[in-house]
Amino acid sequence: MDYKICDFTPTDLGAIVQLLQTVRSQSDSAPVDIADFIANAQEGATAVVALAGGSVVGVASARVSGDRAWTQVFAIAQQWRNRGIGSALTRRLEERLMHQGVRKICALFGPGQVGQQALLNRGFVPNPGMLLYEKSLSLEPSDIRIIDKWGGQILEGDLWNKAAGMEREKALIDGRIVAPLSDPVLAERIGLRPPATVMMFGPPGTGKTTFARAVAGRLGWPFVELLPSKMSSTDGTLANELREALAELGQLDHVVIFIDEFDEIAPARESRPASVGVVNQLLKSIPDLRQRPGKLLICATNFIRAIDPAVMRPGRFDLLIGIGPPDTAARTALWERAIASLQLGPGVSASALADQCRGFTPGDIDLAAQRAAADAFARARMGAGGGSDQAAVVTREDLASALQRTKASITPSIHESFEAEVESFERV
Ligand SMILES: Nc1ncnc2c1ncn2[C@@H]1O[C@H](COP(=O)(O)OP(=O)(O)OP(=O)(O)O)[C@@H](O)[C@H]1O
Ligand SMILES: [Mg+2]
Repeated sequence: MDYKICDFTPTDLGAIVQLLQTVRSQSDSAPVDIADFIANAQEGATAVVALAGGSVVGVASARVSGDRAWTQVFAIAQQWRNRGIGSALTRRLEERLMHQGVRKICALFGPGQVGQQALLNRGFVPNPGMLLYEKSLSLEPSDIRIIDKWGGQILEGDLWNKAAGMEREKALIDGRIVAPLSDPVLAERIGLRPPATVMMFGPPGTGKTTFARAVAGRLGWPFVELLPSKMSSTDGTLANELREALAELGQLDHVVIFIDEFDEIAPARESRPASVGVVNQLLKSIPDLRQRPGKLLICATNFIRAIDPAVMRPGRFDLLIGIGPPDTAARTALWERAIASLQLGPGVSASALADQCRGFTPGDIDLAAQRAAADAFARARMGAGGGSDQAAVVTREDLASALQRTKASITPSIHESFEAEVESFERV
């Protein structure tokens, strides 16, 4: 069973008290004053919980005082230890505290107490000879205000590992984007300019957004997606908003700015005269952004041919990377995810399914899985298949039949034109 990390809500209180009572008797847990925890929680202390199958299996909370926070409770149910819950709780707690203007988090831990490894994993520094751990957060409150204003997030580093397969794309992104940005000293010594502007292109659902987020997660930089649809709805023109966003975000030490459906905001000016202002603004803003290191603008599009060529020329976009259809390993990961929530019959294998669906996007895979589930559901309702227990599972045959009825979104001709686009546009 998997767990998820959530912000504390008052409805968790009963379950938390139960957890604290259970761990209280264990020698490796900190003595917790449960009444104190309840009082603090009711006064709005910052707390996060790990939930598994509806129960609370971990909790971490902190008290804020000025720009410092002190961890108050750190507890994990015994059978859920050594699964990364401590680090995940700490990470979420840090993020919450950072947004409250906290600059330093301190934690007092007794010898051998649960949670110390989590603090070390998260970069807390133990004070020599003491039980005090401290971590200064890297973002200034003024940075947090800018990130919050534009809806930014701090993402997890393991998003990269969750993106399966796509070896060609991953090697390009790793070698040409992540590595130079994470080792700027070596890059500078050699004379390599780390990229500041990257365009990812390819058919829908191939993982462009996923990779943009994964890059931010790996760099540990805040990720801000600018949504033109949201921006233009506020007053001021899209061009002005874009200028303001890029100028403000450019003040951060580090940031990944992501603009999806870039063809919508920067189409060839002759094809849509209304977009001239936006394109001209981009032509001005991009060089400003490129001058300051530590900023990465990633744009994504399904229609690379529709974008104004002036925006894409070398000197404006450093890299243009084609993200192709999910390969077998990526499709296997997508099938694993799609069937994880199904009640399966025997002999179903994600990798066998992946072999039979070349050209499928994540959306197609999900559709096929749901079609198979719908057949199993109809059969179970009718009580067919010799006993309702037997029928209430999604069988290999359901999946095979659903696969046959589901069309691949990436047809051979779409694949062919993508390969032609890679040939003409890719620049790495
Ligand atoms: N390599 C991969 N491994 C596992 N899951 C993936 C992979 N690539 C994409 N996915 C999943 O597929 C879905 C679609 O991916 P994503 O949104 O990144 O595609 P996209 O290229 O941005 O699509 P669009 O062009 O429509 O914006 C997401 O749910 C994502 O988690
Ligand atoms: Mg996308």
